[in-house]
Amino acid sequence: MRVTLVATAPADVTVDALAVPVAAGQALTGAALDLDRAMGGLLGELLASSEFKGRIHEVLPVPTQGRIAPRRVILFGLGAARDLDGQRMRSAHHEVFRASRTYGYRRVAVLRAEPLGTDSLQAVVEGCVMGAFERRSRQTGAQPERREIDELVLIGFGTGREHEVVAAQEMGEATNRVREWQNAPANELTPDALAQEATRIAQRHGLELEVLGPAELRAGGYNLLMGVAAGSAQPPRMIRLRHRGQLPMPVGEPTPKVLALIGKGITFDTGGLSLKEPKGMMQMKADMAGAAAVLAAIDVIAARKVPLDVMAVVAATENMPGPSAQRPGDVLVSADGKTVEVLNTDAEGRLVLADAVTHALRNGATHIVDLATLTGAASIAIGHAATAVISNDDSLWHMIDEASRKAGDRVWRLPMYADYRVLLRSQIADLRNSEYGEAGTILGGMFIGEFVAGKPWAHLDIAASSWNTNTELTTVLRGPTGAGTRICVELAELMAGPGR
Ligand code: BES
Ligand code: ZN
Ligand code: MN
Repeated sequence: MRVTLVATAPADVTVDALAVPVAAGQALTGAALDLDRAMGGLLGELLASSEFKGRIHEVLPVPTQGRIAPRRVILFGLGAARDLDGQRMRSAHHEVFRASRTYGYRRVAVLRAEPLGTDSLQAVVEGCVMGAFERRSRQTGAQPERREIDELVLIGFGTGREHEVVAAQEMGEATNRVREWQNAPANELTPDALAQEATRIAQRHGLELEVLGPAELRAGGYNLLMGVAAGSAQPPRMIRLRHRGQLPMPVGEPTPKVLALIGKGITFDTGGLSLKEPKGMMQMKADMAGAAAVLAAIDVIAARKVPLDVMAVVAATENMPGPSAQRPGDVLVSADGKTVEVLNTDAEGRLVLADAVTHALRNGATHIVDLATLTGAASIAIGHAATAVISNDDSLWHMIDEASRKAGDRVWRLPMYADYRVLLRSQIADLRNSEYGEAGTILGGMFIGEFVAGKPWAHLDIAASSWNTNTELTTVLRGPTGAGTRICVELAELMAGPGR
């Protein structure tokens, strides 16, 4: 899809459809009002009669009958202006693009939303690009449900901002790549296939790449990852990409930061011997959403040459109940020497992530952010509309919060009470991997926190936010969302900024 910025008046752009945003209860103003006048007051009449209310995801195509250059105006709702954050803004644009594809529009112009006040170029482009997402079909001979859009024409955003447009387009496309990887069946996207994706990213930008297989993992003592992999015929992979964006520091300057983005890459989670029931297993091909997010993020970070050292670490394996699978009650020794009692083989994410954290520290990480579809409890705690965050460091948390706002991808911090640490203790080992059953999202995160050696660390539990199964919750993307991807990129940008 081509994206262009124009200074043309909305009535003069030759497009199939001109999308006009309307906030609930607000009258047309500015360029939208001029447009309404050119259309003889037709748009204002639809608003006045409440045939169009401006509710979020409301979409109404209006024929223009030759009065203006666009063949159609498509009114689309933003919902109440006070509820309009970056996530809802993207969602509204996502929706008008999906509708445009259903109607078969090929060239679509989008008018800048007036009620937002702040600059919305990034949100608009990202939302539209995400709305243009078409999941790859594996149906033989089937036609895609919706047509592609060839061009997005941006009106009212100023000109000379091509650089920002390209950046936002890359971000939207990175999110879509993650959604595609989430959708990919587990027999296609194996741990080794993830490593191959990482290899392609490394080659594209000349990044440093390391892929450890079973022999190296055993030699390095990554027994938590090996324990999870034991029941699977697919060999595990520990994948590490390194973007060296930091210029050499003069002597006497503080040591450069190295941000490690760590992703849970369980390419399929059966639960292992603590087997899931069929209903709970259906979505488990997407238990690598964290891995996908950090890989897509470092791809963008490298493409933009962000001036910060960033590594992406992915612990990739299946969690299967094969004949040599680990058993509930097994005790494993982690890469950093802690003993862990595996009480529930379905709490495998924290195991592989613990070893991935150690791997990142061995390779010089100073700041650690892990992304993981870790706990079903995340959907109980906050539902699908935000990612749950646990962090041991206020300033890292504040940066993630800020990155989240820029990304239009919500986060919400949960507390990490010292009291709960006793719940991680095992009777016979240093730690146990599963607990009493309360505060599951917090404790899952805190388990990983035991391995960060006091470094600033944040854990993003994307179990609920990365895949929306709630069909009534229509303003959050349905199915795979790519949650966390854009946050990682924005975080790297923020950390690279002056004074951070
Ligand atoms: N991958 C799951 C978490 C999950 C559940 C992700 C639903 C997406 C949707 C994870 O490995 C898991 O099984 N977690 C257990 C932890 C428990 C055994 C402590 C869970 O949430 O039940
Ligand atoms: Zn899992
Ligand atoms: Mn599991």
